[in-house]
Amino acid sequence: MYKIVRKESLNPTVTKMVIEAPMVAKKAKAGQFIILRVHEEGERIPLTVADYDREKGTITIIFQIVGGTTMELNRLKEGDFLQDFVGPLGKPSEVEGFKKVCVIGGGVGCAIAYPTAKALHENGAQVTSIAGFRNQDLVILEKEFQDVSDAYYLVSDDGSTGEKGLVTDVLKKLIENGEQFDEVIAIGPLIMMKFVCQLTKQYNIKTMVSMNPIMIDGTGMCGGCRLSVGGETKFACVDGPDFDGHLVDFDEAIARSSMYREFETRKREENCN
Ligand code: FES
Repeated sequence: MYKIVRKESLNPTVTKMVIEAPMVAKKAKAGQFIILRVHEEGERIPLTVADYDREKGTITIIFQIVGGTTMELNRLKEGDFLQDFVGPLGKPSEVEGFKKVCVIGGGVGCAIAYPTAKALHENGAQVTSIAGFRNQDLVILEKEFQDVSDAYYLVSDDGSTGEKGLVTDVLKKLIENGEQFDEVIAIGPLIMMKFVCQLTKQYNIKTMVSMNPIMIDGTGMCGGCRLSVGGETKFACVDGPDFDGHLVDFDEAIARSSMYREFETRKREENCN
């Protein structure tokens, strides 16, 4: 059993939990994920390692309350226990050998982008972070990003915080002003990652994306995270979650991810009744 040592609401739909899991904390790296089960009959869900503390033996997870299981998870309090907490799984992000990197997070994707930005910073890279949200109420991890970034840009769709616009507007401006990035890393909604990749392709900047958002059970068995990369079939939970964004077939991934929306809505309604 794995104890919830801290719980914090980051915005109305996103919660942060710090979990006591010393064996996982010992090995976890940026870009990896864990699989948890809330209780014995619960479904397994994969969540990215948002942070870790090897000394305290804790792992931080950040999740959006979108479906049945995340609603159950969010009902737990500090001091409660999780049934299972397995990991770290997936390949770690590449964070060594870079001079200048731009890390882009969209919405709750910032929870996945943050540990990568932090690891790049710790490995001596100059980090420019761009975080995008629909509005100011949804902003998460602003201070954390600022602490590990040489430059931090905040944008919102409605202009209620930061600059009004899209993450790609800022990225385009930076590139046109002469910023030379070895790599761009984008994590967020599929549509955002698609447009970031379209832009960086024009400038021939290597771009990695995390396909974590399309994962379902994280075990390599459900097939939910299947995607095409450079014409080959891959599974985000086994072969990724990070992939060369210029090779990912985003249109196919977007079409597949919408298949699960109806199921999530049903589960959410069941949990509310
Ligand atoms: Fe189920 Fe990858 S998430 S196969």
